[in-house]
Amino acid sequence: MNFDPAEHPGLRPPGFRHAIYGALVVPRPIGWVTTLSADGIVNLAPFSFSNLVASDPLCFMYCANGSHREGGAKDSLLNAEATGEFVFNLCTWDLREQMNATSASSPRSVDEMRATGIEAAPSIVVRPPRVAASPIALECAVVEIVRLPSSEVTANAMVVGRVVQVHVADEAVVDGVIDVAGLRPLGRLGYQDYAVVEQAFSMTRPA
Ligand SMILES: Cc1cc2nc3c(=O)[nH]c(=O)nc-3n(C[C@H](O)[C@H](O)[C@H](O)COP(=O)(O)O)c2cc1C
Repeated sequence: MNFDPAEHPGLRPPGFRHAIYGALVVPRPIGWVTTLSADGIVNLAPFSFSNLVASDPLCFMYCANGSHREGGAKDSLLNAEATGEFVFNLCTWDLREQMNATSASSPRSVDEMRATGIEAAPSIVVRPPRVAASPIALECAVVEIVRLPSSEVTANAMVVGRVVQVHVADEAVVDGVIDVAGLRPLGRLGYQDYAVVEQAFSMTRPA
């Protein structure tokens, strides 16, 4: 099968029960992103269109697509635009329910960390807090907001930040490396599905 995505808006070609876009590039990291509104309200939301995009200097991006149910862009985009700051929090198996709860379409006036009972820890360089129970957090300063191609119904934007502070929990480090499988990070698959990393393997790169 092959098709031009433009001919199937919503990415649900004949024969498929649901939109397939989420199942095409998998697993995707989940950027669980904290931002602060201009009025100081905390927002926390997961983004699977997200990843590290450079290592030197370290840069991370997430894409806030579509709109807020109160109209206008999602809080995670408006806040990053207004304050120039955000925090990436690694989502693990233990945090899966809390992460999912923060994807609800909350009113703009709601502090999503407080509303979902997620403990915040202060950041060091930026103002948005981090998720205290997340073993890895990256404090970021926005370097660019890229407007992506958008449809009539969806306005898409990519927020790129330079990492200005890295947090790694002491327990995450075993024998001088980050024990990634031990952290059990989540990945996003298509539909309502997720993957959990519990096993890692190594390969040596060719010279
Ligand atoms: C695992 C997961 C991944 C998501 N990935 C994205 C994404 O990449 N882009 C996006 O716009 N929304 C994504 N969402 C939906 C947002 O989390 C949701 O719209 C959230 O309320 C963000 O809005 P806010 O910034 O106004 O809080 C995802 C939801 C879940 C549960």
